[in-house]
Amino acid sequence: MKKSALLVLIIGASILIVGIAYAGVSGSKHDFSIGGTSGFQADTETEVCIFCHTPHGASDVPLWNKTTNSTGYTMYNSTVSSTLDATVPTAPTGVSLLCMSCHDGVSAINVVVNYGPNGPISMPAASDQLGDLSYPPSRNPNLTKDLSNDHPVSFIFDTNLITLDAAGGPAQLKLPVAPLKLFVGKLECATCHDPHEEGKSTGTTPFLRMSNAGSDMCLTCHIK
Ligand code: HEC
Ligand code: HEC
Ligand code: HEC
Ligand code: HEC
Repeated sequence: MKKSALLVLIIGASILIVGIAYAGVSGSKHDFSIGGTSGFQADTETEVCIFCHTPHGASDVPLWNKTTNSTGYTMYNSTVSSTLDATVPTAPTGVSLLCMSCHDGVSAINVVVNYGPNGPISMPAASDQLGDLSYPPSRNPNLTKDLSNDHPVSFIFDTNLITLDAAGGPAQLKLPVAPLKLFVGKLECATCHDPHEEGKSTGTTPFLRMSNAGSDMCLTCHIK
């Protein structure tokens, strides 16, 4: 092998290794530690997982470190066209409710159930909840408690729903396959999103479990 070809190979391999090393929560928009790059940054806290998980005394699964509140929600319902067949609850449940413990726009990012060894986490008051910053309307991460304009979540997605939706005609839905997944049989925020992987290096932003290029993710479940 020529020296130059070998060099190209080595450089290529190191880019790959660096790429892998930077994937994950650290450095993502879900990294609220002092070292992170999110628009929401703690003044001194260095722990990354603490904003969502605690090793002990959790409020919920999976070792959830925030209080959840299911009051005051409006959920998606296509009453105008009456095409929605899923039974959507009056508030998000399960994993979706966990996402809403920040994405409701009013819950403080730095308030958790169990603090680390240095006690309460300080964060600038002007950027400690999603409602503090303004975004363009279409890319606004502040979902608010009005989820009526968001893809339905927290409902059971099984073969009964597929049959009900087909109403005697050909199926319009199919059950998701990996990397998409249901949580105890339900379609949740984390069915489409992986909160740990922003996807900057994999082309799966924003935190999607797979690329939605060509609407491929939508077409995993919708036969359209
Ligand atoms: C912004 C919030 C958030 C942060 C930060 C976060 N997680 Fe999570 N994590 C979640 C949510 C929500 C779930 C449940 C949904 C799921 O399984 O994808 C979860 C699930 C998990 C699970 C169980 C499911 C699985 O994938 O194995 C583990 C383990 C986990 N997280 C570890 C971590 C670790 C370690 C860190 C820090 C490096 C971390 N998480 C940071 C939100 C977060
Ligand atoms: C601890 C608080 C917290 C939790 C819990 C949390 N998020 Fe976030 N998330 C944020 C904040 C804050 C931002 C905005 C960061 C920014 O704009 O820099 C964000 C941004 C995002 C984005 C947009 C990223 C982009 O590129 O614009 C997505 C998608 C997202 N979160 C999905 C989820 C999902 C899905 C869950 C649950 C599985 C979840 N988040 C749980 C705080 C949280
Ligand atoms: C059926 C799949 C699906 C579900 C379920 C879903 N999302 Fe998303 N979400 C997406 C896709 C796809 C995008 C990217 C949209 C784009 O690029 O135009 C997105 C974008 C986002 C963004 C970035 C801001 C924006 O408006 O584009 C946030 C924040 C977010 N989702 C949070 C959530 C939360 C929280 C839940 C649960 C309440 C959720 N998502 C449920 C597919 C989903
Ligand atoms: C994990 C599977 C899954 C993915 C991925 C998914 N959907 Fe859905 N979607 C569903 C299910 C199940 C329903 C509920 C259908 C029903 O009850 O009739 C639904 C409902 C909807 C509805 C409302 C239908 C109505 O009757 O009001 C629309 C529109 C929709 N999805 C579009 C999308 C788009 C666009 C994407 C990609 C950004 C997407 N979906 C991704 C499973 C999925």
